Amino acid sequence: MKTLSCFLFALGSFLVTEVLADSCADPSQAVPVYRDFNDQIGDHFYTTNNTEYTLANAGGYFAEGARFRVFSTQVPSTEHLLRLWNGGAGDHFFTLDTTEATNAVSSTGGYVLENLAPMFVYSSQICGTVPLLRYWSAGNSDHFYTISTTEVDNMPGYSFERIEGYVLPLVGSSSSATDGSAAGTGTPGSPAATTSPPAKTNAAVPMPVGHLYFLLPLALAVAYL
Ligand SMILES: *[C@@H]1O[C@H](CO)[C@@H](O)[C@H](O)[C@H]1NC(C)=O
Repeated sequence: MKTLSCFLFALGSFLVTEVLADSCADPSQAVPVYRDFNDQIGDHFYTTNNTEYTLANAGGYFAEGARFRVFSTQVPSTEHLLRLWNGGAGDHFFTLDTTEATNAVSSTGGYVLENLAPMFVYSSQICGTVPLLRYWSAGNSDHFYTISTTEVDNMPGYSFERIEGYVLPLVGSSSSATDGSAAGTGTPGSPAATTSPPAKTNAAVPMPVGHLYFLLPLALAVAYL
């Protein structure tokens, strides 16, 4: 009986490994996300479209280089990182939360949904990803995203809001603590904002359903003991 339990446990573990492996896309399919900064309107802008990036540079933005990687089409386990733009505030805003996006485009929100250069990211830390940290500066009306845990140290007025999703580091770097500023200036160059943004709670990161499969071999083993 014990042998059978062990066998079933091993079988279950094997299946779990397969299920989890299947839920990861080939990381080599991920594409770089380029970051631009406009110090006149205080806006950080992110795009996978190199042409759009280059055009923005001609239109008042400074090129800050590739920062992390995402998928440009929906691959297993990823979700659409929605892109919104507020022309009045001069702010590009990215969120996985459709309710938050809906509120942002409401009459009081002032944002429009932009369906350009779609980005798909994981909503939990799987498949070799690192957290995409989201910050907000009320003074600049600017959402800022980075995988560096230290970059914002040089950016007065920016406060951490939450982990927006999980992205892949650039090829050749593997740590979320790596400061990507080597790829660009990374300097906001805008007046320091002293206003604190309204406190926002960190979004609970849902546990991926895939993890529940871990219960399967346990249940089988117990049933046959
Ligand atoms: C990239 O951006 C340019 C300039 O905005 C646009 O003309 C082009 O259609 C975009 N390419 C894709 C694949 O979205």
